[in-house]
Amino acid sequence: MKIIHGFLLTYILVSNVVAIADEAAEIVVYRSPTCSCCEKWLEHLQQNHFVIKDIVTNNIDAIKTKHGVTPELASCHTALIGGYVVEGHVPAGDIRALLKTKPEMTGIAVPGMPVGTPGMEMGERKDAYDVVSFDKQGHTRLFSSHKDTD
Ligand code: CU
Ligand code: CU
Repeated sequence: MKIIHGFLLTYILVSNVVAIADEAAEIVVYRSPTCSCCEKWLEHLQQNHFVIKDIVTNNIDAIKTKHGVTPELASCHTALIGGYVVEGHVPAGDIRALLKTKPEMTGIAVPGMPVGTPGMEMGERKDAYDVVSFDKQGHTRLFSSHKDTD
């Protein structure tokens, strides 16, 4: 048991180092197997040249809790990139802005699943929505606003 534990710890340490080295390169996405809009959001990321590590889990709520995503912020999938949390149908452009501006926040989120966000397209309909940033204490700030005409 001790040996296995030691191996796991080494693995975790090494994978953390790798994650830091590739910071902006890879986005780790946690999603549930039954969600088709998650797959569409992954396609949006792919089209925007993100390297995706797709993790399908039946325990997405535990991932959200672990990463400080409150029920008010929650959407379907939860992603990690460059030390930040990206919750929900956040556009690729906002993820790039996050990595560039590096705010002292935990991450950004599009709470719920507004129609017209990447992966939530329903014909021509696009609702206005905000991307908010959030911290560990549950404070949120406006990160960007998307008008219903964008
Ligand atoms: Cu969704
Ligand atoms: Cu999703």
